[in-house]
Parts: sequence; structure tokens; C-alpha cells
Amino acid sequence: MPKPERPRGAVIAGTGRALPERVLSNADLEKLVETSDEWIVSRTGIRERRMAAVGEQNSDLAVRAAREALAAAGLEPDDIDHIFVATVTPDRILPSMACTVQHKLGATHAAALDINSACSGFLYGLQIAQSLVISGASDTVLVIGAETLTRIVDFEDRNTCVLFGDGAGAAIVRPCDAGVGVLSVKLGADGAQGDMLTVPAGGSEKPASHETVAAREHFIRMRGNELFKFAVRAMESISRDALADAGRDASELVALIPHQANRRIIDATAERLGIAPEKVFMNIDRFGNTSAASVPILLDEVVRDGRVKTGDLIELVAFGGGVTWGAAVATWEPAAAWPMTAREARGSIAAVKTGAPA
Ligand code: ACO
Repeated sequence: MPKPERPRGAVIAGTGRALPERVLSNADLEKLVETSDEWIVSRTGIRERRMAAVGEQNSDLAVRAAREALAAAGLEPDDIDHIFVATVTPDRILPSMACTVQHKLGATHAAALDINSACSGFLYGLQIAQSLVISGASDTVLVIGAETLTRIVDFEDRNTCVLFGDGAGAAIVRPCDAGVGVLSVKLGADGAQGDMLTVPAGGSEKPASHETVAAREHFIRMRGNELFKFAVRAMESISRDALADAGRDASELVALIPHQANRRIIDATAERLGIAPEKVFMNIDRFGNTSAASVPILLDEVVRDGRVKTGDLIELVAFGGGVTWGAAVATWEPAAAWPMTAREARGSIAAVKTGAPA
């Protein structure tokens, strides 16, 4: 009989990120649409964003971020049981991008699944990862948020083209002793508001046709002003829910890591939560809104720059299309991850659980 394990928690054991090299500045956009650097900076906080090169696919960014996260956690692709890729810009509708990532990464023992929850997708993935790890159904989960939004942005629409950028962030979730690591993840959705942010055509409701292309219906359409108000309310309330669920208070937070949609949304949310500006992290000036990638990219920057220390309490929070929202409260202690057991390292556990040939 195998020995019963200690009660399990789930911890982020390593993070990574990948950004395309090409920089698209506000000055570049001034040449495309009727806008100005002054308007973009004052209304959004964005100065520049990244744009994937021709031939550089979303899955390439995802794999680069995943390799960094694996290295940080001291693991190999073969160690992964589950891959979740949060994205609204998969390489293709079929197969899932998670399957493409699994192949490019060489994660032969992993099951693979895409998550379409827009900017909240990484939080959705984190809750699934936490649940699988705590239940014992998975030992090593790779959660990625990755986007090439510049491929679905209408560069004739100044309301949206100034906001979005490309990039990927990743995290490895592993078992740890209960009571540390990811303490709580809370999620929400309101499908009635789906039209606030949508790509009208290209799905089964409205397949691609000459008419949909001519009407530019394969690009993002957004009612930014309505979303703005919704975002502030939802991010405040879900942040409070996640803290309450973890039995912690906002005053204990060392870092708030919010989705980078708009500097004014972040400032308003932090103010309502009573969190001091120096604890609220941002990179929106350099990367814009990278949707599902935004939170894990910022998390990776914050931890690699040493701006959070072992044991610090952090909160991740996001809001996005769907509409969806989510928040997670965690202690930052990657070293709390249990070491791989010999059986896990052989991949035999993953193979049995996912049904993949060992
Ligand atoms: N340059 C110059 N003027 C502009 C631009 C631009 N790039 N974009 C809009 N304007 C104009 C508008 O046309 C409008 O002009 P008008 O008054 O003559 O009609 C004026 O600026 C004000 O427009 P608003 O929409 O009221 O501007 P607002 O201050 O709300 O800022 C913004 C717009 C930045 C889009 C903001 O509403 C926002 O950030 N919304 C939230 C976006 C978001 O959170 N998205 C969800 C996540 S994304 C995801 O899930 C993938």
C-alpha cells in the first residue's frame, strides 16, 4: 500500500515570459490612425506594445515562456501532466493551441486544453490547476497565457488598435503542504455582456465569407467605455472575495498584480481596495494589453526583479471579454513545491492519469 500523502496545497513553482522583439510605439500608430501619443498615454498609460514578427506564432511565444517557467521550477517538459493555454488568439481554431504547445515543447505525457476567457484566462487556468493538484489528479500543471492580439486588431480602428499587444507568460503549479502557495482563486462571468468585446465573425455563427472580410468582422470590436466601468467594479469585488476566501486582508498584500488593460482602471481598483500605489505593479507602458498573457507576464517580471520575497502575500486580478473576471491570493514561495517523486519523474503517474502511452 502506498503511504498516504500529507494534505496537499498547490504552489506556483516557477514562472516565465516571452515578448516579441518588435516594438510598436505610439508614434508608429500616429501614422496609421487619427490619434496622438498624448491621448494614448493620458487615457491608457500605454507608450508602446510588442508585435509578433511574420512567421512568429502565438505557440512559439507560449513555448518560450513555458521553457523559462520549467527551468525556474527545475523541471523538464516530460514532467508535465496537464497543459492549459489561455488565449483568444490560438494559432488555429483546430487543433487547440495547447496541443500545438505540447508538441513543440515535447511534453509527451501531458494532456492539453485551451481556455477562452480573454484577459481572465490565466486566472481560470490557475483555478483548474490548483484544483487538480490539490485533488491529486495532477502533479505538475503548466498554465500559459499567450496572445498575438495584433493579428486580430483592426489597424483602422483607433478605439482598439492603440490598446493591444503580443506576448506570453507561464507558470508551473506543483503540490506543496496545505496552507501555503495558492490560497484562493475566485472567478466570475456574465455572458449577457458578451457583445461588449467580441470578434463577430469567423466562428460557426458567422463563418468567414467575402462579406465578413469586407465588413472587417474578423477584428476585435469593443465598447470600451462600458467595459471600463464594469472592469473597476468587478476587479474590486472579486479581489475582496479572493482575500476573504483566503482569510487575509488587503493590508497584508505586498503586491497587487492586475491585468494591464488601462492604467486608470488599475488606479481606480487599487484606490477602492485601499492598496498603496507602491504595491500595485504595472508594465502597461511597455506592453499594452496582452489579454490572457498580461497577468503572468507581469508576475514573472515582478518575481524575477526580486520585487516580491519568499513568503510575501500577493494578489492577481483580471477582467476581460466574455465578460469574465477572476482573482487569486497566494504566498510567493516556489521552494515550498514538493520535489518530484521517482515515479513522477518517470512519467508513469501522468501516463496513467491522462491515458497517454507511457
Ligand atoms: N485617439 C484619439 N482619440 C480617441 C482614440 C484614440 N486612440 N480612441 C478613442 N478616441 C476618442 C473617441 O472617439 C471619443 O471621441 P468623441 O468624444 O469625439 O466621440 C473620445 O476619444 C473619448 O472616448 P471614450 O471611449 O469615452 O474614451 P475613454 O476615456 O473611455 O477611453 C478606452 C477609451 C481607453 C478604450 C477605455 O474606455 C478603456 O480602457 N476601456 C476598457 C478596455 C478594457 O478593459 N477592455 C477589456 C479587456 S480586453 C480583453 O479582454 C481582450
